[in-house]
Amino acid sequence: MGVLNDRVALVTGAGRGIGAAVAEGLAAEGAGVVVNDLGVDLEGGGTDPGPAKEVADRIVANGGTAIHDGTNVTDFDGVEAMIQRTVKELGRLDILINVAGIVRDGMIFKMTEQQWDSVIDVHLKGTFNTTRHASAHWRENRGGEFRLINFISGSGLFGAPSQPNYAAAKAGIVGLTFSCANALRGYGVTSNLIAPVATTRMTEGLGAQGSFNYSKENKQLSPENCVPAIVYMASEASSWLNRRVVSSGNGKIGLHSNFDMQIELEASSDDGVWTNEEAAQAMEANFKGAAEQMNPWGRK
Ligand SMILES: NC(=O)c1ccc[n+]([C@@H]2O[C@H](COP(=O)([O-])OP(=O)(O)OC[C@H]3O[C@@H](n4cnc5c(N)ncnc54)[C@H](O)[C@@H]3O)[C@@H](O)[C@H]2O)c1
Repeated sequence: MGVLNDRVALVTGAGRGIGAAVAEGLAAEGAGVVVNDLGVDLEGGGTDPGPAKEVADRIVANGGTAIHDGTNVTDFDGVEAMIQRTVKELGRLDILINVAGIVRDGMIFKMTEQQWDSVIDVHLKGTFNTTRHASAHWRENRGGEFRLINFISGSGLFGAPSQPNYAAAKAGIVGLTFSCANALRGYGVTSNLIAPVATTRMTEGLGAQGSFNYSKENKQLSPENCVPAIVYMASEASSWLNRRVVSSGNGKIGLHSNFDMQIELEASSDDGVWTNEEAAQAMEANFKGAAEQMNPWGRK
């Protein structure tokens, strides 16, 4: 018996990389899986139904249940049809995992409008599209144990200098997911985020960097090593976890502190009004040292 028996998952961007490992990992635990992938190159060009089909075929060859789907996640109506197809062909939808992504890097002062729009479109609008239509289905079928798991990145949490579009899209997904966590819990849905790290075509060119050795031989950084945390988050047992950021990969699983406030200072005057001088003095005295400590991944 797998922990996901009788459950159905839709995984976007599941034709390659981490998404493919997630689709196969869920199927190995008994879930029926829709393997969605447009089959584009790293920057979003071209389309190819091959990768999604290959992953679905592999799942079926291993005794699992899967169908492949080539919908572009940026297509609002197409995504609605994909959700309807999921329910029609696999009988239900319990788990939505938004993995699909592209990168079009550039420094902010050189970034083109096209670089900006395309990355926001795939990550942020794509995640909205699937979540919008899945949540309407969950609202109509309330009473289940539904799971929304959205992929973000350390780039969005910490701000990779050459990825303003990608960082903004990923941080936008954080706000979207937190809103869903509060709006959908009453319908049986938990909404959480995964910040993964793995060697894929997106990262393999990075080589060795500190404790990250991006090589296909390094099992610790394999896409498969991100999956156990996600299998748990997709399972009914994780109903206690909502509105959280979890990181997974490189042999580690982390719980992040969201954007929760760390220190709050009150104005000392009776009317609660700050002067410029008081604010400057209080912030330097109370925030400066604390801000320097708030670098869990050692980034300034
Ligand atoms: N690899 C890492 O270390 C890392 C780190 C942080 C975040 N991420 C995130 O994890 C996710 C997976 O990344 P990966 O490294 O496996 O990348 P990948 O390029 O191997 O896989 C991404 C998949 O998404 C698909 N895709 C792109 N646009 C699509 C669209 N419009 N509709 C449907 N499918 C589409 C691609 O065809 C591709 O197969 C992404 O969201 C990425 O931003 C990855």
